[in-house]
Amino acid sequence: MGPVDWAAGARPLAAGEFDEIRRLARRTFGLDLKPGKEQLVAARLGRLVRGGGFSSYRQLYRHIVRDSTGEALAALIDALATNHTAFLREPDHFQFLSERVLPTLRGRSRVDIWCAACSTGEEVWTLACLLNDALPSGGFRITATDISGKALAAAQRAAYPAARCANLPAAWLSRYFMPEPGGEAFHVRPAVRAQAAFSRLNLMEPVSWPRQFPVIFCRNVMIYFDAEAQQEAAGKLAASLEPGGHLFIGHAESLSRFSQWFEYVRPAVYRKPAKQGGGWNKS
Ligand SMILES: C[S@@+](CC[C@H](N)C(=O)[O-])C[C@H]1O[C@@H](n2cnc3c(N)ncnc32)[C@H](O)[C@@H]1O
Repeated sequence: MGPVDWAAGARPLAAGEFDEIRRLARRTFGLDLKPGKEQLVAARLGRLVRGGGFSSYRQLYRHIVRDSTGEALAALIDALATNHTAFLREPDHFQFLSERVLPTLRGRSRVDIWCAACSTGEEVWTLACLLNDALPSGGFRITATDISGKALAAAQRAAYPAARCANLPAAWLSRYFMPEPGGEAFHVRPAVRAQAAFSRLNLMEPVSWPRQFPVIFCRNVMIYFDAEAQQEAAGKLAASLEPGGHLFIGHAESLSRFSQWFEYVRPAVYRKPAKQGGGWNKS
């Protein structure tokens, strides 16, 4: 066998190249790319290198840091972010929300939920189905955010292959979705789509909402952050949560070291103590 002919963007990253990308990802969106991820990063960036006509990762990196439009950085984030998600992921959260949290919010004219790091929208539409069942008057609003423009575009398209919808209850599919002719995909109904507003939000940048939320879902994103970035995100979530409000995180995540902001309720569910201002300094 002759020498490997690495096409640009297909060879592994050299240590220096990996380090540049790693520091940029950490600085801009909290991502903690641990040593050993060189091959994964090479696979994810290969398309950007080839698509942009760059001859090396270093050239791509230089382009990203020089590009004042922010588009190259957005493409990097799209390429590096892990968007894995599913309808009804970690289902006990939805049961707890429905049985224990929503009953305490029923007297409100509107229940506001922030779904942070919502990826391609399955979590948002799961919440919308559940909330429509629990609050048939439609008195709720979901604020859905993610850093990835590509993921947000898919979330707003709200069309999913039938196989992805296989675990949705039949009643939800018929009430809140429309099948494509041929049944190969399902589209969230326009009335349900109108119940969620999407925007791009980086949990590493200042966050300010006109009001605090009684419920926040921020699941399976802090697991990709290092300790410092987790603290930064947790502080923002604390400040955005109403006193007494509930925060749902991924089951592989923990906020137990932030007991100044949250009390533990059950696995991956925390509550902001009823009398507390929140720990995040907005400045
Ligand atoms: C694994 S998905 C989780 C999706 C969903 N919450 C769930 O649990 O199924 C992680 C999401 O976090 C987003 N993300 C990564 N870094 C982020 C940041 N700094 N700010 C906001 N979102 C971020 C990614 O774009 C991705 O869509």
